[in-house]
Amino acid sequence: MDKILILDFGSQYTQLIARRVREFKVYSEIHPYSMPAAEIRAFGPTALILSGSPASIYQVDAPRPDPGILDLGLPVLGICYGLCALTVLAGGQVARAARREYGPADLLIDHGEDLFADLPNRLPVWMSHGDQVTALPGAFQVLAHTDNSPYAAFRHRERPLYGVQFHPEVVHTPQGKAILGNFLFRIAKCQPTWTMRSFVEASVARIREQVGAGRVLCGLSGGVDSSVAAVLAHQAVGDRLTCVFVDNGLLRMNEAAEVVETFGKHLGLRLIAVDAGARFLEKLAGVADPERKRKIIGAEFIAVFEEEATRLGTMEYLLQGTLYPDVIESVSVKGPSVTIKTHHNVGGLPEKMGFKLVEPLRELFKDEVREVGRELGLPDVVVWRQPFPGPGLAVRCVGDISRERLDLLRRADVIVEEEIRKAGLYREIWQAFAVLLPVRSVGVMGDERTYEHVVAVRAVQSQDGMTADWVRLPYDVLATISSRIANEVKGVNRVVYDVSSKPPSTIEWE
Ligand code: XMP
Repeated sequence: MDKILILDFGSQYTQLIARRVREFKVYSEIHPYSMPAAEIRAFGPTALILSGSPASIYQVDAPRPDPGILDLGLPVLGICYGLCALTVLAGGQVARAARREYGPADLLIDHGEDLFADLPNRLPVWMSHGDQVTALPGAFQVLAHTDNSPYAAFRHRERPLYGVQFHPEVVHTPQGKAILGNFLFRIAKCQPTWTMRSFVEASVARIREQVGAGRVLCGLSGGVDSSVAAVLAHQAVGDRLTCVFVDNGLLRMNEAAEVVETFGKHLGLRLIAVDAGARFLEKLAGVADPERKRKIIGAEFIAVFEEEATRLGTMEYLLQGTLYPDVIESVSVKGPSVTIKTHHNVGGLPEKMGFKLVEPLRELFKDEVREVGRELGLPDVVVWRQPFPGPGLAVRCVGDISRERLDLLRRADVIVEEEIRKAGLYREIWQAFAVLLPVRSVGVMGDERTYEHVVAVRAVQSQDGMTADWVRLPYDVLATISSRIANEVKGVNRVVYDVSSKPPSTIEWE
């Protein structure tokens, strides 16, 4: 199988490069820029791509690749900073550009073969750089230029070494995909054989081999990641997989029943549903602080899970739905990022209980996980489920948590979901939900003055949850949501829409 190794110099677009390559059914992996040439050789890629970076190659502490990468005999494509790194490795020069180029530019093609084959000779491209090649290495020739960049794309005259100043991986370079395709198929001669069907086959075989005759435990949440991991593992080891689903009393309307119905009855997994709502709510009584809520829920989840595991007897393996973005060793050129919220997961469990991990989705992006789910025949409601935080409605019930407040929030939340689905927007939206505020306001219903709760509606668009923008929901959808909540949910007399992006806000209110 062909694989592309992407060396990451810290660009915000690195993951996008990997995804574009995979969309061509060619497997790709991201590794830190510092990966030694010998390790790259051992990994055995078909070609290398050098990513962009917020750094400048002439800085003293600039991220530099192993000079040996050019002696591996592999095709190389340097993108933006990657082009600068390639230039310097090959003996050329880079300096600060007189004019920073950021945004759209017109690329004029001087040589329309290989990288630019079958493309018009003028292309809109997306630039984002402050540096420029000032001396092209002797053995290189220019393939394209812009008004501002005489060396906007070039190649080595004899060897398959290419550089582009612009970003072919972003949507703002409309023909970028074709350019990457030319690199993969014309230059690197890749075969498009990496499909989700081939992934499922290989993954099932791998799980069987890893687990042997052992038994596997899985914490099933009903979210797409743990669900796909569970069904994959079920295909591999059948009833030697046991799933534990913990109802923490903080789930959405009917959620627990649906999980039991789908996975236990419909898909035939060995599923143990633990009704632990009372335990969680008892521990959470009177707690309003968001971080304390998370800690309590995380600790209680581990306690419940451990009890079940002990009852079930020896289980050597723990199945987890870890995804590729959690695994990529992120290169931080600007220093480590701060923890904004402690996201609870079962991270403490494996060490504590001596589990060996089975992580069949470690190589996949979220949209690929969905495709695998479809391939495995999971129903659409699971495959397209929006992300839901581990602490559940606790972080959407701002302030104190009680059974009554959770019930009220549930009834408002299900209306948001129903109306978003009715409007055909559910799949396009990253997350849409209701939040119960610890605020009462005055209203009037009939001739009566009311003094009731406020519900906030939040709908955001996002690629990965790291940044997000609020969705411009049609007014009539907002109007229906608002009037339905005020009419149908007793105790609410006001609905507001959250128009904050992330940053500066976060997606959840707590
Ligand atoms: P924020 O609110 O930090 O959320 O912008 C980003 C994404 O993470 C989810 N989220 C959580 N997931 N445990 C989780 O498993 C948590 O404590 C948690 N807090 C937020 C949130 O729903 C969004 O998708």
